[in-house]
Amino acid sequence: MLFANAPTPHCFFLLHQFGPALACAMQNLPVVGALHCPDVSRYVLFYGSKLVATAFRTARLFLALTILFAIPSQAQTTLAAKLRATRTSPLDLELAGDLANLPANSTRYLTREDLLSLPQTNLTATTDTNFTTPTKITGIALQELTLQLAAAPNSDLTIAICGDQYRANFPDAYINAHHPVLVLKINGQPPSGWPKDSEGHHADMGPYLISQPDFVPSFKILANPEEPQNPWGVIRLEFRDESTVFRPIAPPGPQAQDQQVQTGYRVAQQNCFRCHNMGNEGGQKAGHPWLVLSAWATAQPNYLAAYVHNPKQKNPNAQMPSFPEYDDATLRALIAYFQTFTTPREKP
Ligand code: HEC
Repeated sequence: MLFANAPTPHCFFLLHQFGPALACAMQNLPVVGALHCPDVSRYVLFYGSKLVATAFRTARLFLALTILFAIPSQAQTTLAAKLRATRTSPLDLELAGDLANLPANSTRYLTREDLLSLPQTNLTATTDTNFTTPTKITGIALQELTLQLAAAPNSDLTIAICGDQYRANFPDAYINAHHPVLVLKINGQPPSGWPKDSEGHHADMGPYLISQPDFVPSFKILANPEEPQNPWGVIRLEFRDESTVFRPIAPPGPQAQDQQVQTGYRVAQQNCFRCHNMGNEGGQKAGHPWLVLSAWATAQPNYLAAYVHNPKQKNPNAQMPSFPEYDDATLRALIAYFQTFTTPREKP
């Protein structure tokens, strides 16, 4: 759609600009030829027709160049121009954070149709745990959305926020390594035809989910490999500045630079921050903020370690996923990190 429509105004522009000139050049030929001097008229006809041919070639070149350069910029202005101030449907995608050419904290919306009008990426998801079998997905590269909508260069983190306040963080490094896609269709179907979530809640995975081609972790921190980010039930994307988002959970105090604390920080930032918040940053799905985890780490570190290993053992109704692969070193790093937020009490 977009590609077919994009050149139209430019073709019109070219005809408008060059049409009359070409028409004049053509009209002038018979007039010059009508001088009734055969040599002169042959001369004028020969060079005149060359002139016309050159004019046509130049016009064609102009047209080709205009189309070539117009398509990307046309797509860019088109998507940003499509941002709507209000929601029109529960299927709209909410956009916020550092949006290009808009004041900070602005919220805008794009409809599914707006998003479907962009060039689509097709892939087969084979390592996405949201699907039980290899699944065909169609959508828009997150990188493309960020390029077109975010206020560069500050926006180096895209956060996908889900209906249950889970937050998946997509730093630029992740986007460049794994090429995540905002999914619009699964097996060619809109959200109403999508499979239910694979976690057993029988929940709808729409309006959006994010998937990527085969995932291979690009790093490992102790027992915590880089995790694929496959959020479903995504309702909002925020384009943010990574340092602003992670600053509140940077470890404070005299132990801040300890290697163990820094390692725990990286694990917590990767994992816990998706569901546990610090103030306005981080996911609010857990409802147990960072300082509560810190209080546990200081008062009863074994409880925190046991909860991370197997939440159901401590709380039969636990919704938190278990991390049985976390070894002692990983748990100790997490505990050392969370303890930095709790000022040790003076001994009486
Ligand atoms: C996918 C979401 C999710 C992630 C990721 C997550 N948690 Fe949780 N966590 C929860 C939820 C939800 C609860 C509330 C109780 C429950 O349902 O288990 C919770 C509760 C807890 C509790 C119990 C708090 C209390 O007051 O009893 C601890 C401790 C905890 N989480 C630690 C962690 C740590 C440490 C990490 C990172 C290694 C982490 N969680 C990652 C969702 C998550």
